[in-house]
Amino acid sequence: MKTILITGANKGIGFETAKQLAQQNNFVYLGSRDKENGLEAVKKLNEQGITNVEALEIDVSDIASVRQAKRELEGKIDALDILINNAGIAGEQPQDFAGGDIENLRKIFDTNFFGAIQTTQELLPLLRKSPNAHIINVSSEVGSISLRLDAGRNTNRDKYNAYGSSKTALNGFTVMLANELYASGITVNSVTPGYTATDLNQFQGAKTPEEGAKPIVKLAMETDRNITAKFFNDGGEVAW
Ligand SMILES: NC(=O)c1ccc[n+]([C@@H]2O[C@H](COP(=O)([O-])OP(=O)(O)OC[C@H]3O[C@@H](n4cnc5c(N)ncnc54)[C@H](OP(=O)(O)O)[C@@H]3O)[C@@H](O)[C@H]2O)c1
Repeated sequence: MKTILITGANKGIGFETAKQLAQQNNFVYLGSRDKENGLEAVKKLNEQGITNVEALEIDVSDIASVRQAKRELEGKIDALDILINNAGIAGEQPQDFAGGDIENLRKIFDTNFFGAIQTTQELLPLLRKSPNAHIINVSSEVGSISLRLDAGRNTNRDKYNAYGSSKTALNGFTVMLANELYASGITVNSVTPGYTATDLNQFQGAKTPEEGAKPIVKLAMETDRNITAKFFNDGGEVAW
């Protein structure tokens, strides 16, 4: 049984990831920036007979909230096995770089990039106490520079430019942190759920949250310790 924290797990892909990981007998803390929404999500799982879950209030863009969540976790567990940095926002439209609002870009980075970093930094001492810790950053294909250069892909490029660049930065964080932590044995990887119907895209995505959660769950349950500094989707590795 692994102890897992998933940020932004009160709904969407994070919620489904929590459900599937709890069903595989792990203990899952469902991170939620709104306490009531977190408790509601846990209640939903409890009603389905899933009791190895607990809500944890954490707003990843607010360092005081991240530190409070850390203190709360330290009072409950000795070690954290898996941190899934899932919390994310798409931001406002339009978000092309030629004319998009710079404050929108900052807000997106605050959650998707700086949020993941400060959450990881604060929880690293608990992760270091696990013999086999994983850090998983939930990224996106629209953050892949290689796919962006492929003119045949990503027809919605302008629509997700600010969001996509925050995921490119997150992927950079994945690789550089993986290298920093290599000697410690902590693995760090990126994974994308694929285009999934959630609030983030007004439920336009092609996959269900159940399907979107699958590559994240697979990576979380990976036992090969040599897998680090990589980027996955449900088909295998994604080009950076
Ligand atoms: N859906 C897709 O097609 C798709 C594709 C690729 C990658 N992703 C990534 O998958 C992850 C989950 O997204 P989703 O599609 O499941 O979207 P979602 O349904 O909108 O869920 C996003 C979650 O993140 C939380 N969140 C936002 N800002 C936060 C903050 N500052 N602190 C803590 N939690 C915060 C939200 O909380 P509230 O309920 O309080 O807003 C919510 O729980 C994101 O990282 C997203 O970029 C999604």
